Amino acid sequence: MADESKSKEELISELNHLRGQLGELDDTYRDLEKQMRDQTEELSKINDAMATEVIKRKKLQEEFRLGCEKLQRVLNETISALSYAVEKRDPYTAGHQARVTKLAGAIAEHMNLSEQVIMGVKTAATVHDIGKINIPAEILSKPSELTKIEYSMITVHPQIGYEILKNIEFPWPVSTIVLQHHERLNGSGYPQGLQDDQIILEARILIVADVVEAMASHRPYRPALGINMALEEIEKKRGILYDPAVADACIHIFRTGKFSFEQ
Ligand SMILES: [Fe+2]
Repeated sequence: MADESKSKEELISELNHLRGQLGELDDTYRDLEKQMRDQTEELSKINDAMATEVIKRKKLQEEFRLGCEKLQRVLNETISALSYAVEKRDPYTAGHQARVTKLAGAIAEHMNLSEQVIMGVKTAATVHDIGKINIPAEILSKPSELTKIEYSMITVHPQIGYEILKNIEFPWPVSTIVLQHHERLNGSGYPQGLQDDQIILEARILIVADVVEAMASHRPYRPALGINMALEEIEKKRGILYDPAVADACIHIFRTGKFSFEQ
């Protein structure tokens, strides 16, 4: 009996003890709940701040993109204006720069070159004869062969073109390509008589496109020689005057029908 009543007292005491523990647990639970609430509130504030930051950054990105687009547009319009200026003065080469651009771009694309090289070639091709602005119109449209002095005036146009373009900050070596567009691999070109790799790849492409277009088209001093004769010239002087890989790419795109000036 004594054990039994003691056991009841013990049970009551244990019960009280448990109640106490329950109370403590309840306090702890309340503390944790408050902490959780505080943290959730804090996280929510951080989340709001991040969302605001994301919106701000997206807006800045969009403004930057529009700025780049505008700059590219202005650059393209400047190039077109320069190209138009030279063609206005020299009706015989009207369209020449546009057709050379088309061919030079197609050669560069067929050679699997980077977007950077392709864009450089095309931009330079669009204005490659800009230096002709400095040559008297009578010489440019003279229907007979040029005198030595007249020819020497013509040979300055790559240098003049370089001077006109060198201060425009293109993302491609446009002024150098223009400067080198009458050079030849064996050093027989002008104005610097550069050889092989001294002529940059973009210029080596423009050289071939320029020769092919010029030969294929009508000139004030001669009728058009035709595309076949132009391709024969490139094939014959491949590796001597013209870059072999560029010459091969040019001949290939014409002979397989992948390119024509009329397309
Ligand atoms: Fe030229």
